[in-house]
Amino acid sequence: LAAKEASTVAAPGFANAPLLDFSRPEPVAAMVQALAELRAGPELEIAPDTPVHEVRNPAAPEQVLARFPLADPAQGEAAVARALAAFAGWRATPAAQRATCLRRAAAAMLAERHHLAALMVLSVGKNWREADGDVAEAVDFLNYYADAMEALAGWWDTISFPGEANRLGYEPRGPALVIAPWNFPLAILTGMAAAALVAGNPVILKPSRPGLLLGQALHRLLLEAGVPADACQLLPATGAVTEALAGHPDIAIIAFTGSRETGLGLLQAAHRPVPGQYQIKQVVCELGGKNAIVVDSDADLDEAVPAIVASAFGYQGQKCSACSRLIVVGDEAAAEAVARRVADALAVWSWGPPEDPAQVFGPMISAEARDKTLEYIAIGRQEGRLLYQGAVPGEGWYAPPCIFTGIQPHHRLAREEIFGPVLAVLAAPDFPAALKLAQAVDYGLTGGVFSRLPAHLALAAREFRVGDLYLNRKITGARVGAQPFGGTRLSGTGIQAGGPDYLKQFLWTRVVSENT
Ligand code: ALA
Repeated sequence: LAAKEASTVAAPGFANAPLLDFSRPEPVAAMVQALAELRAGPELEIAPDTPVHEVRNPAAPEQVLARFPLADPAQGEAAVARALAAFAGWRATPAAQRATCLRRAAAAMLAERHHLAALMVLSVGKNWREADGDVAEAVDFLNYYADAMEALAGWWDTISFPGEANRLGYEPRGPALVIAPWNFPLAILTGMAAAALVAGNPVILKPSRPGLLLGQALHRLLLEAGVPADACQLLPATGAVTEALAGHPDIAIIAFTGSRETGLGLLQAAHRPVPGQYQIKQVVCELGGKNAIVVDSDADLDEAVPAIVASAFGYQGQKCSACSRLIVVGDEAAAEAVARRVADALAVWSWGPPEDPAQVFGPMISAEARDKTLEYIAIGRQEGRLLYQGAVPGEGWYAPPCIFTGIQPHHRLAREEIFGPVLAVLAAPDFPAALKLAQAVDYGLTGGVFSRLPAHLALAAREFRVGDLYLNRKITGARVGAQPFGGTRLSGTGIQAGGPDYLKQFLWTRVVSENT
């Protein structure tokens, strides 16, 4: 694809944080120490408050890592009132100063990256690399939106006429409710919060319950970096309290990443007129995916197979970006042959507690997530042929990785998001049919193509309309600034995180026209 020369750069000077290299002894020693410290550390102490959410280690669920009191409706109301009271002051804080707070938080985050990654290993079951990638992405979001806000701040000239000067400026909207998922408990929470904050909106952070330790850490880092406590509040809460807050008239922005069901519910709650309504809420939603990788008949399987394994089974398939459909150009036998190669590659890796760096794959986030995967495995056995089922430990919330062949487009395995390590394999008679099949779902988040034919890659670039399309590479692991991330259809509201337009969703524009 020929790219037009960019006329604007969202974040000049931005560079991605480097990942740790766990083939070297120093980062390994630092992670071992961070994990050991957590076992004895103060964040694992149990508070006596009730009602509480217990954060447990998914690899050893009897291990309670922390207890968090959950807000009741009155505490939720109080948080909104506090955020509203903080709005004028935070809005009046110069954008450069708000950006400086984000950059300070990013630097502090890097300084304690092993600790944050270790928290993720223990509380959400990420392996070391995935956890480190999550921290690096959070750092990137802070720096990227800091740069982007500085680039946007101030007054912009619009068209002026003789005797009339016209200017446009960006304004924050008001209190933002930031509702984050557990699967990127630091990166996604940080991304949404950083954009809202740097734009001048006070935020209420509502982390996922399994991700509360990371939410607590982010809250601490932002306050230490200079964000006023009233402009950044942490609100551990149930879904019911959160949904009530989404309808609160003083909430101006809802930034949500999570399930389609919850997202659509929040959209309704946000847009249902209530007594005291005085604004139209801005809702930024990132929902699910049912993403496909198309393997063309001439694809280089040595390249495709490891990328499919990483995309479908990385973090146990618990990514909205994950590959859950493999569409092979050819007949059922061709599809079976590719699936067999994927199964052979997958069988090399073991599943076990992510504290052990030798384990590539770990547990599911919860017993419910494990049970949901097991239900889909039972459905897959009825709909298709179970080509591969991996072995998992007996203890912990593990679900066995499975590959099903013989799946047809109408099957539930071909249409429904599982959010687990289950790969459905379909055959398509030719490449255009494969692209059509890839888009025959009501999501449009990520997609991938493996092909050696430039004409097919170009066709995919034109016609495979998902938010993030990857050609001849894995379909997970978007990097801030490089692959702005987000989807269309029922995958989300379409303006991508870590991209040039994301920040504007947290702002409105106003014009001053002066007769001179
Ligand atoms: N942004 C995450 C990825 O690309 C979900 O995998």
